[in-house]
Amino acid sequence: MLRRFSISLEEDLLDEFDEYMRKRGYSNRSEAVRDLIRKALVKQEWESDCEVVGVVTLVFNHHQAQLQERITELQHEFYRLITSSTHVHMDHNNCLDVTIVKGKASRVQELAERMIALRGVKDGNLTMSSTGGQLH
Ligand code: NI
Repeated sequence: MLRRFSISLEEDLLDEFDEYMRKRGYSNRSEAVRDLIRKALVKQEWESDCEVVGVVTLVFNHHQAQLQERITELQHEFYRLITSSTHVHMDHNNCLDVTIVKGKASRVQELAERMIALRGVKDGNLTMSSTGGQLH
């Protein structure tokens, strides 16, 4: 059930918010505010170290010496967190490695940070989501 509430905002802030919405393709303010609230709540859960699911993506050149081995070593070290991993050969040189993880936010972040910090990783990202409760 949807409930309504009203928000008072300074005009400048509202203009900026409308611009933010426009850039992201929102068609109405309620939808944009809902997404912002959800993001804030997910962030709060990360901070309280709840159970989360996450996706770590790495882009790297497979000619980089021993990088693939180091990724595999880390995945073994954190094997309890890892649900699955996929390797995609993007082109002649570049690879995309996607690791799906589930566990405590702090452990998920630790794994992601260590993977992204590996020498030769061109781009690395962690996306985390939460169900809003404990995972079972
Ligand atoms: Ni590859």
